[in-house]
Amino acid sequence: MIFKPNPNKFKNATFNNMDEYNELCQKFLNNYEGTWSQIAKENLDWLSPYSKTLDSSNAPFYKWFIDGKINISNECIDRHLNTKANQKAIIFEADDGTSKTLTYKELHREVNKCSNMLVNEFNIKKGDRVILYMPMILESVISMLACTRIGAIHSVVFGGFSDIALRDRIIDAKAKLVITADGAYRKGKPYMLKPTVDSACENIKDIKICAVKRNNENISWDENKDYDYNKLIQTQSDKFDFVQMDSEDPLFILYTSGSTGKPKGVLHSGAGYILWAKMTMKWTFDLQPNDVYWCSADIGWITGHTYSVYGPLACGGTTIIYEGVPTYPNDSRCWEIIEKYKVNQFYTAPTLLRLLHKLNSKGALNHDVSSLRILGSVGEPIDTNSWLWYYESIGKKECSIVDTWWQTETGGHMITPLPNATPMKPTSACFPLPGIEAKILDTDGNECENNKKGLLCITKPWPSMIRTIYNDDKRFVSAYFGDATYQEKPVYFSGDGAYKDDDGYIFVTGRVDDVINVSGHRIGTAELETAIQNHHNVAEVAVVKKAHIIKGESIFSFVVLKADTDKNSLKSELNQIIKKEIGAFAVLEDLAISPGLPKTRSGKVMRRILRQIAGNEEVSGDISTLEDPSIVKKLQNVMND
Ligand code: WTA
Repeated sequence: MIFKPNPNKFKNATFNNMDEYNELCQKFLNNYEGTWSQIAKENLDWLSPYSKTLDSSNAPFYKWFIDGKINISNECIDRHLNTKANQKAIIFEADDGTSKTLTYKELHREVNKCSNMLVNEFNIKKGDRVILYMPMILESVISMLACTRIGAIHSVVFGGFSDIALRDRIIDAKAKLVITADGAYRKGKPYMLKPTVDSACENIKDIKICAVKRNNENISWDENKDYDYNKLIQTQSDKFDFVQMDSEDPLFILYTSGSTGKPKGVLHSGAGYILWAKMTMKWTFDLQPNDVYWCSADIGWITGHTYSVYGPLACGGTTIIYEGVPTYPNDSRCWEIIEKYKVNQFYTAPTLLRLLHKLNSKGALNHDVSSLRILGSVGEPIDTNSWLWYYESIGKKECSIVDTWWQTETGGHMITPLPNATPMKPTSACFPLPGIEAKILDTDGNECENNKKGLLCITKPWPSMIRTIYNDDKRFVSAYFGDATYQEKPVYFSGDGAYKDDDGYIFVTGRVDDVINVSGHRIGTAELETAIQNHHNVAEVAVVKKAHIIKGESIFSFVVLKADTDKNSLKSELNQIIKKEIGAFAVLEDLAISPGLPKTRSGKVMRRILRQIAGNEEVSGDISTLEDPSIVKKLQNVMND
């Protein structure tokens, strides 16, 4: 099945056929650094030019655009003021259907005021860390941009994380300030955030909390610690000269889960990140002047960073920020928003498509969604049914589907169709973008034959790549480059499995490490197991993923108990602990009370076997290394009980 782009939907796309794509790829092959340099010169506003494009002398700690000076809020705001001052930069759609917009001129003023507030009221300086624990409101974007304006490093923590998870991140980042809101609205009702921040900050010395009043519910207020955003902002000047930043100065930290240990603070730097955010926004989403673009991701995740905020604003586009949920007041809300603002590009996750498809959302029939040109998918593998439903029922067979593969660590898209060039195959992310060298390798570092699954790797550095794990250079090397020491040059290992078909199309099959992808959210089994171990009756625990019809993957736990108990009450107790330690989005779907775990003689739990048992699959592969092979049968019996 191959679907060609519909050229009637495109006027000035960068790539209009595969020849144009191949031409740029070839240019990169002929002159890698020179081509990156040309793109960087043409697309960014250098306050002072760089002296060297790429420094690989301390690989894999690559540096890009050495000595260049830049400011990211200038890239996103100031440089558009001459031509786009009165164009809408951000449209805010509230939960209740009311809306507010900020033009580029207004955004400029608000960001300046917020920058002044950060400096004058909180003494935030270049390099300081500011945590954002925010709903999807305008002040969240304003705060992110204000941090970049003064050179502070923001770390946005998704509002679904618990107080303990938030606290860990505040401490790891050694943050000076948390910006939050009293709460916001969801499904017509207020919900709260500030109480979680209060509890997260308990006994952290010198931390300050600045809260936006969004829902005006009653919240506790400590005059020593708490600051009122709305009040403070009123007295600030709306002028602020942005700080000149070095290309490699850190831009933000975003915590994400890995296969072991605690969450990793993925560190991105300014110039390379904004370059790729901007280029991919143009290439993948073909953002044209006057387009209205909507990415439904929360700003607490990388998709919200790159494709709700930095990419669209760097391109001078109009981006929608939506406060509520996609199914309120009914399952047509997304199509209503698309009709209301005449959205041209819609970007979301397969989990939402599966849900709306299952609910048989008729909205796209009852709403005029003909403004759409490009439909994006991200965060997890999309299944054929959802792909076809998206293409046929939403896109009316006229829109291009861009199934974009990338990660928190890659900063922007890596493998994706180009909307007016790539013939699409459902469920394939298609080809790497120009400049990106992606290969599928076996465990010895050799390229896999077609149709054979291997490890998805990136074999050359790229500008928006992760710079390090905050405070943990060693883990950065071992987590992403450790498996690939057999290479002459470091190879970035993504943690995903993939294969190429005979036409060279790449199909990403999902994580091969111990990361579970629930509704597009990465959750580490190690974090879950550490949380579950806190239960007084748990002797041992192992967590694995299990296929789920809406969420893609769900969390299944095998628990060995100290004393017998009822499974349902155990599940709810464990989920209480997970909600407290991590957040409600990470709860167990199901569990099995197990007589033991399948361990090798050296004591390592064989998760492959547990995954097969949880999925009611046949247990295949070698089990002779198990200390007690009879455990397999016992576990299967438990599942059948
Ligand atoms: C998965 C989200 C298949 C993958 C941008 C990756 C995908 C993880 C796709 C990163 C896709 C993302 N097809 N799988 N198009 N896009 N993934 O860091 O497993 O939240 O490693 O970044 O999502 O998740 P993260």
